[in-house]
Amino acid sequence: MARDGAAYVCQSCGAVHAKWSGRCDACGQWNTLVEEVGARQPGALAPTKATRTRGLAFETLQAETPEPPRIETGVAEFDRVCGGGVVPGSAILLGGDPGVGKSTLLMQVCGQAALRGAKVAYVSGEEAVEQVRSRAQRMGLAQAPVNLAAETSVRDILDALKRDQFDLVIIDSIQTLWSDAHEAGPGSVTQVRACAGELVRLAKKKRVAVVLVGHVTKDGQIAGPRVVEHMVDAVLSFEGERGYPFRVLRAAKNRFGATDEIGVFEMGDSGLREVANPSALFLGEGGERAAGAAVFAGIEGSRPVLVEFQALVAPSAYGTPRRAVVGWDSGRLAMVLAVLESRCGLQFGNRDVYLNVAGGLRINEPAADLAAAAALASSALEAPLPQGCVVFGEISLSGEVRGVGRMEARLKEAAKLGFSQALAPTAAAETSPLPVTAVGRLAEAIRRIAESEWPKGAAA
Ligand code: TYD
Ligand code: MG
Repeated sequence: MARDGAAYVCQSCGAVHAKWSGRCDACGQWNTLVEEVGARQPGALAPTKATRTRGLAFETLQAETPEPPRIETGVAEFDRVCGGGVVPGSAILLGGDPGVGKSTLLMQVCGQAALRGAKVAYVSGEEAVEQVRSRAQRMGLAQAPVNLAAETSVRDILDALKRDQFDLVIIDSIQTLWSDAHEAGPGSVTQVRACAGELVRLAKKKRVAVVLVGHVTKDGQIAGPRVVEHMVDAVLSFEGERGYPFRVLRAAKNRFGATDEIGVFEMGDSGLREVANPSALFLGEGGERAAGAAVFAGIEGSRPVLVEFQALVAPSAYGTPRRAVVGWDSGRLAMVLAVLESRCGLQFGNRDVYLNVAGGLRINEPAADLAAAAALASSALEAPLPQGCVVFGEISLSGEVRGVGRMEARLKEAAKLGFSQALAPTAAAETSPLPVTAVGRLAEAIRRIAESEWPKGAAA
């Protein structure tokens, strides 16, 4: 049994247990329960003496609600993902792997916002003031009137924020904060939840926009950010593959905007550069088309983005062939391989399959199915797709190629970038500015690839 006031908190999902056990009942993870003092069961109301209540003042749905005012930070890609600027009084959680560039992005955001007249504070719990300052100077923000502090005590931070009226406050990171009201260590679920709760309350009360940084490792090793997600108004994630300069900002949750917008940045020597027009960024090198490459005409948020899918299908040296995928969903790859095997007669049973999305972008659209299938078939058959061809379409388990959203926008962007033909669902052909090889079934697309049967005169 835990000590007085102590409980066992799952560091993965935040569930509170009275007794220790090897496995968390709530999320099923092993070895994640840690004793934390002062971890009261969440949701249990504190006993209260008041017996009189005021009742609820119900409202109708018809009243006019003004658009929330927004602080435009000046980093347009960041503002776009937030829904057109940061809403005062809102709390944002920015998650991402360590080293992806969260501190760099937020320094840029608060530096630009300060230069535009907003009162901003940057509180670092991870780095010393000198470190943050020298990075800001390297990024050309030496003149920005940012209020900089290195502090981890949430009590001191709250105190400072109560004294002055800020517009925007960055807390880097939530895992380093601690509150003396709890005995648990910094970074534990209890501390993260308590500190985030205090900061979010203050944000609402004083109408300050607060951005909390949260580290998340791929296997969820570092506790915390998950339990904060429901407290904040927006959850943004900053992603990028190691070895690529491109970084993508996405919204996983946003109470003040759409969640499918992305912001694209390029990491350079002097910070992050915004990429306002990312459509051609993720294409491979030009030149002779190799077998195994297919250019996907995708849509990210409101913008078309062209990305190259690269596949390699090779004989396997092992009993269990490898399936490796970067930038796409491995479950989706398994499905496309199964459809290629059972509906199109291709065999992958004794072959290794590698699939890679160029440039380090992560693609989540089902519309990419046909591009992945085309790249895989092209590699398996050693038959390159024609020069200047874009591909998109969703594949069903029965082997149908289905239409997808915004097909005209995809084709228009491809035409603008000099592509000369498309392999796409039948419905795309109606309004296309390009010659389209319209396919209703995946088998038809694979036959075209195998026989190199493409519209004449379309080659670029
Ligand atoms: P950082 O913002 O500290 O990452 P996070 O806060 O997410 O942990 O970024 C760290 C990486 O970014 C580091 O590997 C160095 C690189 N970087 C640049 O390449 N150029 C720059 O101008 C800056 C500031 C960082
Ligand atoms: Mg950092």
